[in-house]
Amino acid sequence: MSLTLQKEEAHTKKRVPHLGGVQPADAPTSVVNWVAEIAKLTLPESIYWCDGSPEEYDRLTREMVESGTLIRLNPEHRPYSFLARSDPDDVARVEARTFICSKRPEDAGPTNNWREPNEMKATLTKLFFGSMRGRTMYVIPFSMGPLGSPMSKLGVQVTDSPYVVASMRIMTRMGSAALNLIREDTVWVPAVHSVGAPLEPGEKDVAWPCNTTKYITHFPESREIWSFGSAYGGNALLAKKAFALRIASVMARDEGWLAEHMLILKVTNPRGRIFHVAAAFPSACGKTNLAMMKPTIPGWKVETLGDDIAWLKPGRDGRLRAINPEAGFFGVAPGTSPKTNATAVETLWGNTIFTNVALKDDGDVWWEGLTDEKPKHLIDWQGNDWTPESTTPAAHPNSRFCVAAQQAPSIAPSWDDPNGVVLDAIIFGGRRSHNVPLVVESRDWEHGVFMGATVSSERTAAAEGRVGELRRDPFAMMPFCGYNMADYWSHWLEMGQRLRQSATVPRIFQVNWFRKSADGRFLWPGFAENSRVLAWILDRVDAQAAAKDTPLGLVPTADGIDRTDLNVSEEDWIELFSMDREAWFEELNGTEEFFENFGEKLPAALTEQLADIRDRLTKH
Ligand code: GTP
Ligand code: SPV
Ligand code: MN
Repeated sequence: MSLTLQKEEAHTKKRVPHLGGVQPADAPTSVVNWVAEIAKLTLPESIYWCDGSPEEYDRLTREMVESGTLIRLNPEHRPYSFLARSDPDDVARVEARTFICSKRPEDAGPTNNWREPNEMKATLTKLFFGSMRGRTMYVIPFSMGPLGSPMSKLGVQVTDSPYVVASMRIMTRMGSAALNLIREDTVWVPAVHSVGAPLEPGEKDVAWPCNTTKYITHFPESREIWSFGSAYGGNALLAKKAFALRIASVMARDEGWLAEHMLILKVTNPRGRIFHVAAAFPSACGKTNLAMMKPTIPGWKVETLGDDIAWLKPGRDGRLRAINPEAGFFGVAPGTSPKTNATAVETLWGNTIFTNVALKDDGDVWWEGLTDEKPKHLIDWQGNDWTPESTTPAAHPNSRFCVAAQQAPSIAPSWDDPNGVVLDAIIFGGRRSHNVPLVVESRDWEHGVFMGATVSSERTAAAEGRVGELRRDPFAMMPFCGYNMADYWSHWLEMGQRLRQSATVPRIFQVNWFRKSADGRFLWPGFAENSRVLAWILDRVDAQAAAKDTPLGLVPTADGIDRTDLNVSEEDWIELFSMDREAWFEELNGTEEFFENFGEKLPAALTEQLADIRDRLTKH
């Protein structure tokens, strides 16, 4: 079933009378009472209960076209698709304004912003008072994970942004079906969102209402989310980072599973054996690319299950299983092209909401990297004329597409299997110009956890901060872990012990597609060619590939990775795996300093791993 209307219906259909929106007669009291309470605080003009139907989506998007929030793209080029332009100050996640409000500061830990819960509630109560005046408050019930799956979780978001409603319909299983799963005793996560821009009677709205004051707040103990002032991505689609990572990581700690910033893919090797892999890379570091890759080596096939978040839980047989809690892709547009990600380009044929990309004169979209040749004229992401001579980018570097997962031609039929898929390998990666080799296998789970804990990466445009600056991003979860990062590492170590008792444990690897030469070139072609590395990883799992022991872990032997028709010089190949001892001692000193921030909470296993690598490097 298509998420929006079928091709023939969509733009001929007359405006249907507004039937949806009323509170369902059998809505659970817990939700009804909560909605009433939030309405009393935020004072919306009306309340609308979302049913999640295609008609509802169609009506909302039409209203947003009329109000100027969305631009309908030329249906000949991009049917049922829209462009939104955000406020220029609301373009990415705001990590500095993201808070974990646990009772004790040590439960948020040194890598999170902490506020005392009552203090934050007092601040929020002032901000949210009357914040929805003149607007509709939408009630969005949603399921993270397949409806009714034992691995899924339910939530309800209220928001005064119809753009958020439309995006949530693509990104989650949203509406009546999710609400029906909430019984009086069901646990569900409440998430309150307001753009913080109340309208006075008669006041004209702007295309992208938001507030210069922003608060993205999480209460891990009461499992609530409150977000104020932004309508962009992870700040506002609260099912995504706020729920599926920050709150879910706390639930996972308490319930014995893992909530991770990982893509999930299915790989079939030339012998027909099927594998599932989950991979964590920091924001805008290649998860969507890897999730959708088309292998360049013969006989290998890759299918997609998820591109951003994975929930991992031991199954009845004791093996680690993965589901994608989301239902859509909110992917980085710039750099997406038929060469780098042909599958994404195919996925985006229609039914897509684009935010902050450029508009072509023919009513289609464009972004940096989509085509080699730049269009002669565009309207840039801020609504201004743009030509190839312009000195600013046409699309914002963190401009994104929002599209249903099932629209990807590469989607694996098992992507919404309520039991998830068994994981064979876990990969950690970051954007590292230096030091980190193309691929390294960990010696065991503990070493793998050390690899995850020591991921560093050059900053991207996915959040505020200086692009390119190297920062620690353990497990690619630095901005997304809802509790103390050292406790999270302990939890990973415990999960390993538990898995090992009953079954085969996924093997853990580290990759780096981003290593550069002294003159600043990427040493590795990346993208589809990453299939060669993936093949080595899975041949290792399949006991078909040898490996060489090094101080950092196990690396491919000289002919371990198929390099047929690969345009990488012998020198570059050697450089991709080179380990500079001095640079590594420095790197490990940095790790020690970083670890010291966690004091007593740092698990001893990680201190031992650090000592072990130092020892190996010394003897090497
Ligand atoms: P979030 O959605 O922010 O969590 O990020 P993501 O990890 O899904 O990011 P995405 O896949 O959209 O990453 C896009 C960026 O990574 C673009 O700048 C790509 O050009 C770059 N990228 C992805 N794969 C490769 C690769 O193999 N080599 C190189 N050099 N760049 C890559
Ligand atoms: C990320 O920043 O890791 C994203 C995009 O996936 S957002 O949903 O905005 O957080
Ligand atoms: Mn992400």
